[in-house]
Amino acid sequence: MSGLFDPLRVRGLTLRNRIGVAPMCQGTSTDGHVNDWHLVHLGARALGGAALVMFEAAGVTPEGRISTRDAGLWDDAQIEGYARVNRFISAAGAAPAIQLGHAGRKSSFGPIWAAQGMQGLRVATSAEGGWTAAGPSAIPFDTDTAQPRAMNDEEIRAVPAQFARAAQRADAAGFDWIEVHAAHGYLLHSFLSPISNRRTDGWGGSFDNRIHLCLETARAIRAVWPERKPLAFRLSYTDWVEGGWTLEESVELSRRLREEGVDLIDASSGGTTPAATNLARHMTTRALDGQARGHDDGTLRAQIPLGPGYQVPGAEAIRRGADILVAAVGLITEPTQADAIVREGRADMVMLARELLRDPNWPIRAALALGEAARMSIPCQYYLAWSDRGGSRFDPVAPET
Ligand SMILES: Cc1cc2nc3c(=O)[nH]c(=O)nc-3n(C[C@H](O)[C@H](O)[C@H](O)COP(=O)(O)O)c2cc1C
Repeated sequence: MSGLFDPLRVRGLTLRNRIGVAPMCQGTSTDGHVNDWHLVHLGARALGGAALVMFEAAGVTPEGRISTRDAGLWDDAQIEGYARVNRFISAAGAAPAIQLGHAGRKSSFGPIWAAQGMQGLRVATSAEGGWTAAGPSAIPFDTDTAQPRAMNDEEIRAVPAQFARAAQRADAAGFDWIEVHAAHGYLLHSFLSPISNRRTDGWGGSFDNRIHLCLETARAIRAVWPERKPLAFRLSYTDWVEGGWTLEESVELSRRLREEGVDLIDASSGGTTPAATNLARHMTTRALDGQARGHDDGTLRAQIPLGPGYQVPGAEAIRRGADILVAAVGLITEPTQADAIVREGRADMVMLARELLRDPNWPIRAALALGEAARMSIPCQYYLAWSDRGGSRFDPVAPET
């Protein structure tokens, strides 16, 4: 079995190890354009040794953003901002990736943070650049979220092409890897889940109808995304609540996505209801308040077995049941934990989010801890920091000229 520091080949791409930077919204873009923050933030994580360095959820349309300050890839003018960051990530030996998303009914929020700090998600007014959110049915996420519009057939049919056009821009920007965001209650997941999808036409009801938009989106992207480049999907493998989307359905969807040319499933969970929303990032002001006041009592929470690697069983079930590569994500923080997940064949790679915010050099530290320093490339510029710790191979990262 492979370990954390064995390369992973997916189509024409070889990842230098099995560590990925999970997508993390930065709320730092203007009109969807990424900037110096992204260069430094993601560049540091490429230098720190991650193999896959993923941009946050980028809206495939302006209305596909979660918040008005999110990244986007709906306009050719946005391409160069990403290309600049990608040139740096590639020079550092990592593969640049992007998560393409449409936030659907959970969109049109104002900035997640302001001068006074984190403020939770708050619906933006039109004067603040907000719009009317839309989803499969006119069901709001919670009482703090505006009533979304139910999309009409024409609008739904347009979605796969919106993802495909963003994928073409991603190719032009030098991305090696696309992950489609079909998790956390956003548009594609909201079609999968009977909680948010109550349609009675061909897009709702049966399992086949609910997964149709995901399959069409995968097909549309594959038609334009180069054959040699990997395509991944992030799924919430369960809604964690009665009557919601299930692990069994995720396994079957993953199998069908594989048939459409999807290479890997990034297995996350939750996000369809406020009862099963794990992260402050996805919480509305009310939920954040409740958590701060200690109302973590089941009115806001489903029974989620939160703990180290708590989503690994979902990844493993999909890997076995759908015969597809998977990434495990969620509360993975320790080198031996991450190595065991890969070595025991539970997942093909791990994605880390908060731990890589705490320490962009986590992969280098993990390599030293696991006795794998010889396989970790550490930039020449940082030689003095690691040479006495056992790091043995030093590749220069040349600046752009
Ligand atoms: C600041 C922040 C922003 C996030 N933004 C996204 C996002 O854009 N897309 C997504 O699918 N998940 C997002 N997530 C979830 C992470 O990708 C990850 O699944 C989650 O944090 C669990 O992993 P961790 O325990 O390693 O942090 C975000 C998480 C954080 C902390």
